[in-house]
Amino acid sequence: MNLLKILTYPDSFLTRTAKPVEKIDQSVQTIIDKMIVTMYESQGVGLAAVQVGIDMRLIICDVSQAKGEKKPQVFINPEIVSCSGKAVSENEGCLSLPDFRADVKRAASVFVVGLNQKGESLEVEANGLLSMALQHEIDHLNGVLFIDRISCLKRNFYKKKIAKQLKHKKDKKHKKKNWL
Ligand code: NI
Repeated sequence: MNLLKILTYPDSFLTRTAKPVEKIDQSVQTIIDKMIVTMYESQGVGLAAVQVGIDMRLIICDVSQAKGEKKPQVFINPEIVSCSGKAVSENEGCLSLPDFRADVKRAASVFVVGLNQKGESLEVEANGLLSMALQHEIDHLNGVLFIDRISCLKRNFYKKKIAKQLKHKKDKKHKKKNWL
């Protein structure tokens, strides 16, 4: 199965608000299957459809991987209906923000409703890593990245670093052209 390409910051697709899934048909099942393979291959614990260029409110996550088992969870049109407590998501990372990690202030627990892969209604009360993963992935559906939830100073540090890398790439490309 072909892996999906993961979009990275500053791709503007990552800042959009994703559209709800209207119909869970075969094409959606195929997207889910591909997303699951892509997530495991990239060693991620979660992935939102917008990260692979698909405009759908659809996320997958698997926080059991640390124990060596695979239990992917699919959430279609997920919504956080309530949250409680405060927690720091330590050393959070994102497949769309390579080489960067930071502590993120989040809710300790969340109550999420949505649909599962079969279109059945789903209700999950999440704590710990699953709570952090759900908050992170649902943020993606609203165009929010975890760098939007850290201090300005840290965010600007990362933005500058990426801008520098992109400029370097461009310069290199330009140089190459001159030699051809
Ligand atoms: Ni992410």
